[in-house]
Amino acid sequence: MKLDKVPEVVIQRLPRYYRYLGELLEEKTNRISSMELSRRMGLTSSQIRQDFCSFGEFGLQGYGYNVKYLREEIGKILDLDRMKRMIVVGAGNLGQALANYQFDKVGFELIGIFDINPRLNGFAIRNIKVMMMDALESFVQENQVDIAVLTIPEEAALDVGMYLEKTGIQAIWNFTPVDLNTMLHICVKNVHLDENLMTLAYEYKNLLKKQA
Ligand code: NAI
Repeated sequence: MKLDKVPEVVIQRLPRYYRYLGELLEEKTNRISSMELSRRMGLTSSQIRQDFCSFGEFGLQGYGYNVKYLREEIGKILDLDRMKRMIVVGAGNLGQALANYQFDKVGFELIGIFDINPRLNGFAIRNIKVMMMDALESFVQENQVDIAVLTIPEEAALDVGMYLEKTGIQAIWNFTPVDLNTMLHICVKNVHLDENLMTLAYEYKNLLKKQA
């Protein structure tokens, strides 16, 4: 597999391929042509062939792709076949919503929730009790934590991000508006839902223009 050469844009598309292939498996579809997959996903078939070519040979010409195998291989590239252990830091509106979602289905297990608000101490979300921040360091030492989901106010983001880095956590899924990836030396993925919403506004404007 030519993994070193996989372009970043292709990596960004892999989760979407993974999701579609999962749906196909649920429909008991065993093989799919690039043409059919492209129709479903709104990509061109040559784009799909090119993407899959960049990380290996997955299809036989004229025979289509083996859906299960392809999904497994994409899962391996994304490291989804190894369950990763997550904690949520900041059990407010967003933290609770994320903690309530079962990311287990795609390989991420929630094992702890932390906050500084004593009123949340012991409050359970999906049977996981919120713990106070002073318990975090020993929790990380005793449990193998892969990812911290950061859902705290902007003002606290950098300090807490640096603290998490110090505890040995090596990946942060950062929902705060602070772009921590430029400040920390661990893996940080910033999520800005509002940026996505702004691009929707742009597309909506164009649709309205076309209809006028
Ligand atoms: P919230 O105020 O409901 O919750 C924040 C929680 O963090 C509270 O429970 C608070 O006690 C806790 N907290 C404060 N300081 C802390 C610290 N030092 N250590 C641990 N916990 C601490 O806020 P909400 O609405 O849940 O938003 C959380 C963050 O997510 C904010 O930074 C907000 O801007 C961001 N956000 C990001 C979105 C995105 O698309 N990326 C969408 C919505 C919110």
